Amino acid sequence: MPLNLEHRLRAVALGAFAAAALTVSAGFVETTPAYARTADAEQPVLTASAVAVADKYAAVTAEQIFRQGGNAVDAAVAIAFTLAVTYPEAGNLGGGGFMTLYVDHRPYFLDYRERAPIAATRNMYLDDKGEVIKGMSLYGHRAVGVPGTVAGMWEAQKRFGKLKWKQVLAPAIKYAQDGFEVSDQLQERRDNASKDFAGKTNFDLYFSGLKQGATFKQPDLAATLQRIADKGAKGFYEGETAEMIATSMRGHGLITERDLKEYKAVWRQPVLASWNGYRIITAPPPSSGGIGLVQMLKMKADLKDKFDNVPLNSAQYVHLVAEIEKRVFADRAQYLGDPDFYKVPVAQLLNDDYILKRAQEVNPDAPSDTKSVMPGLGTSMPEKAETTHFSVVDKWGNAVSNTYTINGYFGSGVVAEGTGIVLNDEMDDFASKPGVANKFGVVGSDANAIAPRKRPLSSMTPTILTKDDKVAMVIGTPGGSRIFTSIFQVVTNVYDFSMPLPEAVGATRFHHQLLPENTIIQEPYHALDPEVVKELEAKGYKFSMQGMNGDIQAIRINGTTPEPMSDPRGRGVARVIQ
Ligand code: GLY
Repeated sequence: MPLNLEHRLRAVALGAFAAAALTVSAGFVETTPAYARTADAEQPVLTASAVAVADKYAAVTAEQIFRQGGNAVDAAVAIAFTLAVTYPEAGNLGGGGFMTLYVDHRPYFLDYRERAPIAATRNMYLDDKGEVIKGMSLYGHRAVGVPGTVAGMWEAQKRFGKLKWKQVLAPAIKYAQDGFEVSDQLQERRDNASKDFAGKTNFDLYFSGLKQGATFKQPDLAATLQRIADKGAKGFYEGETAEMIATSMRGHGLITERDLKEYKAVWRQPVLASWNGYRIITAPPPSSGGIGLVQMLKMKADLKDKFDNVPLNSAQYVHLVAEIEKRVFADRAQYLGDPDFYKVPVAQLLNDDYILKRAQEVNPDAPSDTKSVMPGLGTSMPEKAETTHFSVVDKWGNAVSNTYTINGYFGSGVVAEGTGIVLNDEMDDFASKPGVANKFGVVGSDANAIAPRKRPLSSMTPTILTKDDKVAMVIGTPGGSRIFTSIFQVVTNVYDFSMPLPEAVGATRFHHQLLPENTIIQEPYHALDPEVVKELEAKGYKFSMQGMNGDIQAIRINGTTPEPMSDPRGRGVARVIQ
């Protein structure tokens, strides 16, 4: 990656910061050295750059950025700002997310997850009787966590980007000013959200123009993006934008100008694990996803003899995977939360002997008794399945895997007046009522209780696989608690079943998460074979249907050629850029 002197000096200064910041989360399986730029290889190592993104506008943006000489991080940041305009149901400025990076052969992880406002309290969603007030953490101002996206993009681009900050903002500003053509899928999502938010938020005031085929312009958002372009992260967290967010919250929600000014994105040690000859680089807490993904992959490998000759998506395959998922979700509920507030036993959960022990508990013949799998158990509140992901590689071999979210489509439904910013409903990812049995008779865990400045537990799992220090795959998806089980299925389709990437991504996916008891979640896109369903019902499984199971955006590197693939379930685009 060619770099100028300014970049090198900046990187050295930031390297010192990174070394300190990385000590924040303890207990990881390997350590990552602090970043220090080496004499960079000027020669491309891949035949092209590539992206897999959630819509066509983001693909055009990526192409522009690469043509201007940008690298994978520049492209990722420009994509994130573009999707905030053209994919407003999940792309965002008003939410947060995780970025996994592989730059100059080194792994990094940036946590820009939302935080609870300073005034947040453990019981803020409970009524006088201690019952959860329905919808309060999902709709309206009180559902909103302090947004992290702009801080995250600023942090990533200033550390690793090559282009000027204004260059990566420019495509998004143009789409906001000039408008973009609305797809049928976006209109459908808008119509559904509008019903949920009716009478509760100002959603319709901003988004009634999202009609298929119409050109949708967002002048307030264009002005906000311009302030961010001019002033960097301060254009969001201080000054006019912060004032407008705080004003729209006053009397309704908890976020103040102080909350915004104090927000910080955090460089964390990624989860690193060896699997099947690959190194997995994935999301640490406050995501549950990286640990869940590694546990699943390793348990499946431990159970090799049980999986031998078992056809993909046969009744026995679904049963064995569900048995693994049961155990992974039991751990997730009990042990995972924000590592800055709760000592998450990451190393223990990723310990090979521990994973083998859990694998050996799998019953190959029948579903294990759900209660016997629970280690005390936590909440099984259904998670919103929305969110969006993009994967990027550049021709110098750097990669970015980024998942970000406002939780449900269009978040809380609140648009901060005058800013065009859709605010998240990420507070719903906390356990509203820890320590008390929920409707499934299970007890919520303190690990994910609400506290001021704390980050809610997430399932987002932006992941990169490397082999011999070179990127082999970049992958991620939306899907709430189905995120890492979807990634597991695509990764194993590719590497265990030798499927070509398009088939691996398009194949049927299913999901089990311990609760509801012995229930397999299907998707209308590709349901399981009815005979398989019958066989599993005879074993005691039940089935439920949810919307599409993820929207995988993946890139596989074949030799030196990137092969991107965008999930046929969504409106995404895969593009190779020479
Ligand atoms: N809100 C979805 C997630 O964080 O996983």
